[in-house]
Order: sequence, then C-alpha cells, then structure tokens
Amino acid sequence: MRSFKNILVTGGAGFIGSHVVRRLTNKYPETNIVNLDLLTYAGNLENISDIEHSENYAFVKGNICDRDLLINLFKKHNFDAVVHLAAESHVDRSIANPGAFLETNILGTAALLEVAKAHWIHENGAFKNAETGSTNHNLKNVFYHISTDEVYGSLGEEGLFSETTSYDPRSPYSASKASSDHIARAYHHTYGMPIVISNCSNNYGANQFPEKLIPLMIKNICDQKSLPVYGQGLNVRDWLYVEDHANAIDLILHQGASGSTYNIGGLNEWSNIDLVKYLIQVVDEKLQRPKGSSDGLITFVKDRAGHDHRYAIDASKIERELGWKPSETFEVGLEKTVTWYLENSEWLNKVVSGEYEKYYEQHYGK
Ligand SMILES: NC(=O)c1ccc[n+]([C@@H]2O[C@H](COP(=O)([O-])OP(=O)(O)OC[C@H]3O[C@@H](n4cnc5c(N)ncnc54)[C@H](O)[C@@H]3O)[C@@H](O)[C@H]2O)c1
Repeated sequence: MRSFKNILVTGGAGFIGSHVVRRLTNKYPETNIVNLDLLTYAGNLENISDIEHSENYAFVKGNICDRDLLINLFKKHNFDAVVHLAAESHVDRSIANPGAFLETNILGTAALLEVAKAHWIHENGAFKNAETGSTNHNLKNVFYHISTDEVYGSLGEEGLFSETTSYDPRSPYSASKASSDHIARAYHHTYGMPIVISNCSNNYGANQFPEKLIPLMIKNICDQKSLPVYGQGLNVRDWLYVEDHANAIDLILHQGASGSTYNIGGLNEWSNIDLVKYLIQVVDEKLQRPKGSSDGLITFVKDRAGHDHRYAIDASKIERELGWKPSETFEVGLEKTVTWYLENSEWLNKVVSGEYEKYYEQHYGK
C-alpha cells in the first residue's frame, strides 16, 4: 500500500471529484490535498464546503491547460500523486460544442502528464521502466487518470466491456476521453511513468449537475416538467453509486498496479425508460403524491446523434486484485440520492440558474 504526502486532485469541485476530495481529506489527515478546479458550470465549491477549513486541504482555482500554473503548483507542493478527474463530462454538450472537450480532456491531460513527468524526473530521477525488465517499478509517484466506459463504444444485447476490449469511442466526449487514456498509457510505455487508469460506468448520487439523466429527472418530476427521454428509451446503462466509485478510486490510487487499467461498474443495468419510470415511483412516493401521478410527464424526444445502445462492465479484475465490490444497492443508493436532491433544492436552484437554464431551454424547450 502506497502512502503520499501531497496529492493533486483535479476537478474536485465537480460531481465525482467532490466525493473523492472529501474522502481523501478526511481519511488521510497526514496527506495534503490540493484541489485544482476551474469552477466551470459543473464545478461548485458548495459541494465541498464541509472540508474547506480542513488543515490538510487547499483549493486552487485554475485551468489544467495552464502549464505555468501547473509547474508552479508542482514546485510549491511537490506532489507525489495526481488524481485527475477534471474534464468536460456531458455527452450532449460535446455534440453541440466539441472544442472545449478537446481542449480540456485531451490537451489538459497532456499538459498535466508532461508537467508531472518533468517534475518527478527532476526530483526523483528517471522512472524505472517496467517494459525494459525492471520489476522495481517506481512506486513513489502515481499519476491516476479517471476515465469512462464510453471509450469502449457500444454493446449489443449481450456481453460486457473488459479491460482488454478494443477502444471504439463514438461521441466527441468519449473520443476525447479515449485520446487522453491513450496519451496517459503512452507515457507509461514510453517513459516508464507510473500511470493507473480506471474506466467506470455511469455514476449517480449527490452533487451531480442536473443535466445528467438521474438529477434532471428528479428535478423535473418535482417541478412537474416534461421528462425528455431519447428515442424509445431503450438505451441501456450500468449505474454505480458515486461513493462506491470514490472508494474504488481510493483503492486504486493506493494499491493499483502501475501501468494497469481497472474497469469499475455496478452490475446494475437499466434501460433509460425503466429507470425514469422507477424514479417517478420513488419521487412521487417521497412527495406523497398519488401513485402514477407523474407518468404523463414522460416525453419521447428525437434520439441523441450516434447514441450508443448499451454499456456494461466486467468489474472482475478490480474485485479479484483489490477486493473491491459495490457496497450500495441501487434501491438504497437511489433513495439516498432522491432524498439529497429533495433536501437541497437551494443547491439545485443555484446551479441551474444562468447558463444551465439557457442550455436546458435550447435543448428541451421551456
Ligand atoms: N459522471 C460519470 O458518470 C462518470 C463516469 C465515468 C467517468 N467519469 C469521469 O470522471 C471525471 C469526473 O466526472 P464528473 O461527472 O464528476 O464531472 P463534472 O462535470 O461534474 O465535474 C468536472 C469538474 O472539472 C472541472 N473542470 C472542467 N474543466 C476544467 C479545466 N480546464 N481545468 C480545471 N478544472 C476543470 C469542473 O469545474 C468540474 O468541477 C471525468 O473525468 C469523467 O470523464 C464520469
């Protein structure tokens, strides 16, 4: 098990990043955590307000594409690990405006890799290259790149994505994540840099910006607005509770084998339409509305361009090697999630005011 003195987390004000930053800050009080986040529409310091005064935590507002900033941060904090989550993350936005995805997800990741490599070689000497036969791989540093199962493309009715499935990204988002995975892997193979990568299925839980399916539906069911479902709603996704993902990230950071990829998933497949119907049931019940009172809000809309049919994950490697399994059932995780959104309507209103509202109306109407 590795231990670190100073960890750079990128994107720690976003959905998954906020759960990761909180976990690392609270669980490892001897480790300094620096959270670098640009605070785009998806980043919100309220997501982590409970740890902002922790002695081992600091926030820096900035862009991962800014090399000078990265160089200065590495000089100042001498990071021994990077947990890289910062990204543009919404597929629909990548279809409307791929540029920001290419910049942040590809060029930003490349900038981080380059600055980390130069700093670690300067501080600790050249990496020992596992490819050239050394077994004493440099475990002092770890660059952990967090990615998505969407890099693998689309499945038919059968089968699962494993770590050896060929990449076949189909949206600008997944193509940008696939590119950054390849660049990270290339830094391992070429320079012997200690890299770990994980590819995870769809997350749900508190703090997720309500453009993604689950929080969007919860909000609209509460507000009695239409529930836009792409096509016939038959696309299938695997859903994982965000705390289970944060736990997997913690394990991989501290115990994952350098040069390895881990698939993370919930073995919890739902078609979009079944999921929306289930959410209606849970939200209406919580709001003590008569059963089925929101069913009529479902509105089938024109399918997403290039919409992948099905994603599903074989997570047996991380279970076998690191002993990880999801601990939350979907019923309980979703109930907690709905409760969180109902109790945090102020948070919801704040994050959807301004830019999101315009975006929402352009895509789905008023
Ligand atoms: N949400 C999912 O279901 C899911 C599943 C698998 C993998 N992932 C990956 O996990 C990571 C986090 O996803 P998320 O859903 O929490 O995303 P998110 O959109 O909620 O958060 C992204 C964060 O990155 C920050 N950011 C964006 N551009 C930046 C830049 N140029 N410099 C610095 N910070 C920047 C944003 O301000 C935000 O805080 C992403 O890399 C994503 O690809 C997400």
